[in-house]
Amino acid sequence: MKHEVVEKNVGLLALFMAVAVSIGGLTQIVPLFFQDITNTPVEGMKPRTALQLEGRDIYIREGCVGCHSQMIRPFRAETERYGHYSVAGESVWDHPFLWGSKRTGPDLARVGARYSDDWHRAHLYNPRNVVPESKMPAYPWLVENKLDGKDIEAKLQAMRTLGVPYTDEDIKGARESVQGKTEMDALVAYLQSLGTVIKNKR
Ligand code: HEC
Repeated sequence: MKHEVVEKNVGLLALFMAVAVSIGGLTQIVPLFFQDITNTPVEGMKPRTALQLEGRDIYIREGCVGCHSQMIRPFRAETERYGHYSVAGESVWDHPFLWGSKRTGPDLARVGARYSDDWHRAHLYNPRNVVPESKMPAYPWLVENKLDGKDIEAKLQAMRTLGVPYTDEDIKGARESVQGKTEMDALVAYLQSLGTVIKNKR
């Protein structure tokens, strides 16, 4: 009888469903905030430099995450192709994380140090210059756009508020270190930093 009352009352049913789903969700999510394995940076990890952080923002702006994941799953097919699987400690300073879920192109979680800077420049300028069959769009404007660094101090400050251990010196020197560099310099610096803390174990 009581069951019938709930089933015939949409509002009540929705409320109970929300409660049931929340309990399930919370028991899975909440412990992750308190486990060392999910919130401790991998040994030897350094916060991104100001230039790499600018590059990351360009990666977000250009929508690279729409075609590239940054998340190697612990399956043989993935680790043989991309290297050691991704671990949570590599992402603790990424706000927001860019794991993605679409792989039109290859995963980029460990692309750092796989190619030369010149390869990346040629590839981003026009992917077909180095990979003739590539479907990736060209990003020629990256070599023309210069960084003025006017927001970089605020960005580092915001990251520090979120727990990334930037020092006062990092923040003070940030603007100078990016000013006059191109967006291409920044994006390549970012790509070269990806996944290098854990070496590509094959
Ligand atoms: C429309 C989908 C698409 C978008 C958007 C895209 N890519 Fe790609 N990307 C690809 C494809 C497909 C390949 C494989 C062919 C090639 O190497 O060009 C690729 C390859 C790459 C590679 C080489 C990876 C490897 O391991 O060989 C890098 C690095 C890369 N992309 C970076 C980027 C960056 C940075 C952006 C944003 C500025 C971007 N891509 C945007 C589809 C895309």
